[in-house]
Amino acid sequence: MLRFYTSGESHGRGILAFLEGIPAGLNVDIALINAELARRQGGYGRSSRQKLESDEATVLSGIRHGITSGAPITLLVNNKESENWTYVMSTSEVDITDKNVIEQMENKSIKRFRPGHADLPGTIKFRQRDIRDVLERSSARETAARVAAGALCQQVLSNCSIKSTAHVLQIGDIEALQDAAQMSIEEIDIKAKNADLLCIDDTAAEKMKVLINKTWQEGDTLGGVVEIIVEGLPVGLGSYTQWDLKLDGKLAQALMSVQAVKAVEIGDGTNSAKKVGSLVHDAIYPTKHNSPLPFRRQTNYAGGIEGGMTNGERLIVRAYMKPLPTLRSGLSSLSFPEFAEQTAHYERSDVCAVSACAIVCKAMVSIILTGALLDKFGGDNLVDLQNSIDQYKGYCSRLGQDVKA
Ligand SMILES: Cc1cc2nc3c(=O)[nH]c(=O)nc-3n(C[C@H](O)[C@H](O)[C@H](O)COP(=O)(O)O)c2cc1C
Repeated sequence: MLRFYTSGESHGRGILAFLEGIPAGLNVDIALINAELARRQGGYGRSSRQKLESDEATVLSGIRHGITSGAPITLLVNNKESENWTYVMSTSEVDITDKNVIEQMENKSIKRFRPGHADLPGTIKFRQRDIRDVLERSSARETAARVAAGALCQQVLSNCSIKSTAHVLQIGDIEALQDAAQMSIEEIDIKAKNADLLCIDDTAAEKMKVLINKTWQEGDTLGGVVEIIVEGLPVGLGSYTQWDLKLDGKLAQALMSVQAVKAVEIGDGTNSAKKVGSLVHDAIYPTKHNSPLPFRRQTNYAGGIEGGMTNGERLIVRAYMKPLPTLRSGLSSLSFPEFAEQTAHYERSDVCAVSACAIVCKAMVSIILTGALLDKFGGDNLVDLQNSIDQYKGYCSRLGQDVKA
């Protein structure tokens, strides 16, 4: 079983990712993890913070001489800015009579709720005295840990011939028209990696940038839609036998947990609700002898999942991100602790973080799929996992042969 947690505050020492259950024997490429961290920080419409931080993962446990040992893995992403926040984020008591402490605490304490953030319910729930206590942990800075852990999981998956990519489908009301279904996963990945908005449709990407500039000038923000595509998944990851074992449910929970994601869609998703069944379900056809699987589909409306299990087709998952809630133009809000009318607190913020969200969502999908792979095939060492998958794929490729002969 794979377990994954994060800890850390936005302006504390750093953000940590813990992964337990990653098999021993995986050669970990830290450069690949750092490349994903850099991609999370990129994208048009990001705030100056992304320029201040250049994230890198440090391994604290579970990896020796570059190879996983089977022990829990801890990855640390330092907050380079934290040295300017020593008093505010100190984990030990501070001298509240010290002039410097008073000044820093006063400057950084948050006294006005930001609508659309965790501020209001979080402050009440935890009986906080400074809204900063909520901001620090609810901030999307936490997604750096998700991306580091996800990039490590992507290395488990690629060792099992599973490839993934992510791209931006929509920003505001501008949609990419390029059909990813007609492209190979490698083509999509190269195109997305070379586009600063991760959009594979160049014409739409130009319009998106114009929209981001205009929105920034108006002091407003934007959301959008991202798509994650995965290929090479064996049939039968996840299960129909219990509600909490269904892979679509696990993916939805993981993606909905990403800050600002408000809807998740698998395959034809919301579109399928308005169509008739014959235009939604993927008919099954036979394949020729010696194919990896004895069946094929001509369509993939299901997005690679039927009955909570992978069905051998491309996995297609979309996440819908709301416009970011911190607005330069300022929404009406209340002060704390007085609950008197005030404009919302503004702290340096992105205008649009949809491309970063795509990288975070790909990381979450990779973590869930690695967990599902380990649930089905086990393996304390990567070789055991690979052998078990190969043996199962052999069984799948022979299906139907004995009966036909
Ligand atoms: C990669 C990423 C970057 C984000 N950057 C910002 C930001 O700069 N400003 C902001 O107000 N919200 C940002 N958000 C969204 C907020 O963190 C999120 O809306 C807030 O924590 C409330 O959570 P909820 O929208 O899921 O309810 C970002 C989200 C992601 C995934």
